[in-house]
Amino acid sequence: MTVITNIEDLRVLAQKRVPRMFYDYVDSGSWTESTYRANASDFAAIKLRQRVAVNMEGRSTASTMIGQATAMPVAIAPTGLAGMQHADGEILAARAARAFGIPFTLSTMSICSIEDVARHAGPGFWFQVYVMRDRGFIERLVERARAVGCSALVLTLDLQVLGQRHKDIKNGLTAPPRLTLPNILDMATRPRWCIGMLRTQRRQFGNVVGHVSGVEDTGSLVEWTSKQFDPGLNWGDVEWIKKRWGGKLILKGIQDVEDARLAADSGADALIVSNHGGRQLDGAESSIHALPAIVDAVGRRIEVHMDGGITSGQDVLKAVALGAKGTYIGRSMLYGLGAMGEAGVTKALEIIHKELNITMAFCGHTRIGTVDKSVLLPGHYPGSP
Ligand code: GLV
Repeated sequence: MTVITNIEDLRVLAQKRVPRMFYDYVDSGSWTESTYRANASDFAAIKLRQRVAVNMEGRSTASTMIGQATAMPVAIAPTGLAGMQHADGEILAARAARAFGIPFTLSTMSICSIEDVARHAGPGFWFQVYVMRDRGFIERLVERARAVGCSALVLTLDLQVLGQRHKDIKNGLTAPPRLTLPNILDMATRPRWCIGMLRTQRRQFGNVVGHVSGVEDTGSLVEWTSKQFDPGLNWGDVEWIKKRWGGKLILKGIQDVEDARLAADSGADALIVSNHGGRQLDGAESSIHALPAIVDAVGRRIEVHMDGGITSGQDVLKAVALGAKGTYIGRSMLYGLGAMGEAGVTKALEIIHKELNITMAFCGHTRIGTVDKSVLLPGHYPGSP
């Protein structure tokens, strides 16, 4: 096996080991995927300033996100169906994040339930919720997050309606996969995945099945989710969730300065500049391009985080330089998970941490907290004079 030295190696391995419908679910954006691609290519276009003869000893990437200590300004993004990339995926990823000392965010649409993750990976992780039509279900979810000791709620604001992802439709994505002939043939070429899935009981949306009346299996669940995301979501709902929860709140899916002002007005602790990994509005600006104007507008009132396109420590450094107090990795983590389970997530974190630490040194900094726009080459970053 080739030595794994970067996130791309993990992606290639995940593609070999994860059944196609679940791999494709991760490695896709909506419609033409132009925003999905721009998230990564806009990072690549930013240039760094190399500095020399600066003492590089005693470096630290340690930081905080919403007041919580983190080994680097990187958290695990909430991602649906992580438990279909690898058996027990959410538990494994949460454990890897805990051991590394960074926040883990569990998605509502996870396979392992919130209680299961708390039991097997420990409390204190962050929990992501959508506003759904069934407000009773959301109230119960918020109570469940409180009961298991979650330390922040991440409210997704950009999924009232779903951006079309062609591959998911063509693949007939379901969890667990329907046992059609093409699916069986595909899974037969992924024996590790199959053995893991046969050994675990966790194969359905654990936060939902059995917690909502009438949703006892996946067929009815698919129907439920397609009807549940609430197109009527508004800032009044954000206030309602904030009151109900009463703890740290992070608003995810902000792309626009006007929305960022409303997010700051809401009194939330942080916002995430995000286009949902290019999976929602195709044609939206990349996250790294949207970031500087939002930091300028509200950075003194609310912590600004970002996600979208981070596949290296260099990307993390660029986001921090442009004012992000924290960043999130979704796909980079999932490729590690699909490739090698918990060890793969740890590998992804080690890769990004090492790249961040060394790149920071090349740019003449020993502390992530001192990194600012001066590490970027003028004329080669968004918002540059
Ligand atoms: C869900 O949040 C998705 O992007 O599929």
